[in-house]
Amino acid sequence: MARAMVLLWACSLLLVSVNVAEAVGVNWGSQSSHTLLPSVVVQLLKDNGIDKVKLFDSDSWIVTAFAGTGIEVMLGIPNNDLKRLSGDYGAAQEWVKKNLTKHLYDGGVDIKYVAVGNEPFLKAYNGSNIKTTLPAMQNIQKAINEAGHGDEVKVTTPLNADVYDSAGSKLPSAGDFRSDIRSLMVEIVQWLDSNKAPFLVNIYPFLSLYQNPDFPVDFAFFDGNAKPIQDKGISYTNMFDANFDTLVWSLKKAGVPKLDIIVGEAGWPTDGDIDANVKYAKRFYDGFLRKIASNKGTPLRPGHMEAYLFGLLDEDMKSIAPGNFERHWGIFKYDGQPKFAMDFTGKGNDKMPVGAKGVQYQSNQYCVFNKDVKNLSLVPANMNYACSMADCTALGYGSSCNNLDLYGNISYAFNMYYQMNDQDVEACVFQGLATTTTTNPSNGTCIFPIEIQSAGTRLGIVSSLSVIASLLVALALF
Ligand SMILES: *[C@@H]1O[C@H](CO)[C@@H](O)[C@H](O)[C@H]1NC(C)=O
Ligand SMILES: *[C@@H]1O[C@H](CO)[C@@H](O)[C@H](O)[C@H]1NC(C)=O
Ligand SMILES: *[C@@H]1O[C@H](CO)[C@@H](O)[C@H](O)[C@H]1NC(C)=O
Ligand SMILES: *[C@@H]1O[C@H](CO)[C@@H](O)[C@H](O)[C@H]1NC(C)=O
Ligand SMILES: *[C@@H]1O[C@H](CO)[C@@H](O)[C@H](O)[C@H]1NC(C)=O
Repeated sequence: MARAMVLLWACSLLLVSVNVAEAVGVNWGSQSSHTLLPSVVVQLLKDNGIDKVKLFDSDSWIVTAFAGTGIEVMLGIPNNDLKRLSGDYGAAQEWVKKNLTKHLYDGGVDIKYVAVGNEPFLKAYNGSNIKTTLPAMQNIQKAINEAGHGDEVKVTTPLNADVYDSAGSKLPSAGDFRSDIRSLMVEIVQWLDSNKAPFLVNIYPFLSLYQNPDFPVDFAFFDGNAKPIQDKGISYTNMFDANFDTLVWSLKKAGVPKLDIIVGEAGWPTDGDIDANVKYAKRFYDGFLRKIASNKGTPLRPGHMEAYLFGLLDEDMKSIAPGNFERHWGIFKYDGQPKFAMDFTGKGNDKMPVGAKGVQYQSNQYCVFNKDVKNLSLVPANMNYACSMADCTALGYGSSCNNLDLYGNISYAFNMYYQMNDQDVEACVFQGLATTTTTNPSNGTCIFPIEIQSAGTRLGIVSSLSVIASLLVALALF
């Protein structure tokens, strides 16, 4: 109540002062071979003052960990479920019952949005989600409404910025939805508008730089050093603003000029490409977080902007079809430890984020190339095998382990495979080419990791439940 009055007062002064932590959230993806315990991640978010999280599914074990924390959770529904949920209203009702309403008790989980699908209209999907996305969104919202939560919980869908373009002109004012999906996009944004739900957009200046060698580097950042783009009297000094306002124009042309926009993903990877490094990531986040904190918005949408950073942790099982950098988007490393100084409040303080606490690591053991081996003919096949299973993306050109010599390369691949397999002795054989060591083989920027003890997901639950069950049996017996 008091807060509402303060907000009202602030609005009337046009000086909306929003706590920065209220504006910045993070995406927490879980495509990792070894996952942190949800309770550890909840503490990590709290310690860093992050009070919003966006998920890619709705795993109960994870969602439950947010109960009573005050952290706002955006649930996700994977693209794989769109067909089922679009074709069968009963399935949507079941989804809402099993994955949403059970968390909405007093003191439960603060859920405001359900993100149905994830970038469903990427060209790489060959149109396979075109028919199912909107009906799935409508079914889920209808089921939420029927369950009596329609005012608090809104359905949206996270869309990549490739759903709109400027017809080759680079000018935001030329913006419109992509021609092959334009009528569908118009239908979706009008539905979002009538449903009072926001448009969720993922904007990546890094990808523009990665895909286009002529892209002016400074335009990817927020320092104002780039040659501006002039558009109808507006001067755009960074790609993010220009891209965001291209969406604003597209919405205007679709008849919903006031539709709310939330940035569903924005971030910069730190490895796996020459431009994916800590220096650029820090530069991007410093500028972006300062921008969010300033409440400046963009030229066409001045004011408060809500955004979710991508992402919380590195994910070593992500597909590298888009590029080797895909596994290195984390603000934090795979083990929840920070990579570089950044200030979530946007005040520009040069301090390291607080790392995850209570993380359990495996033993101090590495798997390396056995230098007694002189015949290297078996190396390529074994290295390929290791890298097809485990993450070798740090070995590539411009990446953190590109400095290694041949033996270093082989050892890196073997070690990644060994760690991924929980240091199983069988995972450090490679036809006699490999041996274990307790000496850390890391070299300069190239870190040979030791994996964490995985929290697992369902396996972890099952085993702890069976421990509890056997304890109960034991108690009953005595
Ligand atoms: C609930 O969400 C989980 C995780 O996203 C999913 O596997 C499951 O199928 C959903 N439940 C229903 C009833 O749809
Ligand atoms: C899309 O089509 C291409 C080429 O036909 C194919 O290689 C790819 O696997 C398809 N992707 C999906 C998600 O169906
Ligand atoms: C190296 O090992 C391969 C496979 O075991 C074998 O075929 C080859 O003859 C060996 N080369 C030498 C020079 O010993
Ligand atoms: C370690 O790095 C140095 C310098 O980059 C390089 O010369 C050396 O070969 C590397 N060692 C290994 C084992 O890769
Ligand atoms: C190490 O591996 C990387 C990536 O496969 C490759 O570019 C590099 O040339 C290799 N270095 C040596 C010395 O074999």
